[in-house]
Amino acid sequence: MTSTKTIRHYLRFQDFSAEDYDYVLERSRILKQKFKNYETYHPLHDRTLAMIFEKNSTRTRLSFEAGIFQLGGHAVFMNTRDTQLGRGEPIEDAAQVISRMVDIIMIRTFGQDILRRFAENSRVPVINGLTNEYHPCQVLADVFTFHEHRGPIRGKTVAWVGDANNMAYTWIEAAHILGFKLRVSTPPGYRLNHASIDPKHLTSVEETDDPCATCEGAHLITTDVWTSMGFEQENDIRKVAFSDWCVDAKLMALAQPDALFMHCLPTHRGEEVSADVIDGQQSVVWDEAENRLHVQKALIEFLMLGRLNY
Ligand code: CP
Ligand code: NVA
Repeated sequence: MTSTKTIRHYLRFQDFSAEDYDYVLERSRILKQKFKNYETYHPLHDRTLAMIFEKNSTRTRLSFEAGIFQLGGHAVFMNTRDTQLGRGEPIEDAAQVISRMVDIIMIRTFGQDILRRFAENSRVPVINGLTNEYHPCQVLADVFTFHEHRGPIRGKTVAWVGDANNMAYTWIEAAHILGFKLRVSTPPGYRLNHASIDPKHLTSVEETDDPCATCEGAHLITTDVWTSMGFEQENDIRKVAFSDWCVDAKLMALAQPDALFMHCLPTHRGEEVSADVIDGQQSVVWDEAENRLHVQKALIEFLMLGRLNY
């Protein structure tokens, strides 16, 4: 079991420093290479990851489950509907119990507060697998993907087009920590809530209502669904409000000639992105999805074993 003295959680992107990210990104590269070479690497033999899901998932479940297996460990999938959490067991009690039986825990839930309370009562590292507020594992994969294709993201300009959602708020933390500019364009009425952003993080952010201004000269354009999980009742009204916030060829043409396009997936072609962009030459969405596996293996390794001398 991990010692309580050394527990680190990954609940928000800001939980790691730039130096931590340098290390984790380099380990992601090394672990990806091992995977591509079919090299066995089992530092977590006999260790168990519990994965708790309150929302649907394809990529997060698969990448964590495959990832811990490839590191020599085992995953237990828990859907809250089938557990006592679904019948009202306090999150604090669940954290006490689950963290006595496994070595690391990943949770996908609604409010960040639920995740924070779980982590405060856990004896082992806890990873955010997506909350209403943040999706740090995804932005970690996105930064790694940018790095692979274009080198360091420091000093670059990233354009966010669409909803001020969990991905957007995570990109804001990443921009501050990793030293790049984030431009955000949202429809009026769906702007960033400054009250939930650390004021020092806002210095890396430029906001506008105009998606064209946001994309001009950008090195990366990224977007996400107009309606995130948990907000489905707003879907019809959002379809109207967001109709001009579609990343199409016209917006891509305003960015750098070698700009990348990313989307965390799943996508709705014809809504937040046109089919020709997401299926086009500048899109790296399949690498981005695959890289969830590699960065999360590096993340689990870092949280459980710390920095390795290699
Ligand atoms: N991008 C992402 O987290 O995908 P899933 O919802 O399929 O896990
Ligand atoms: N913003 C989306 C991301 C899904 C991976 C959501 O929360 O539903």
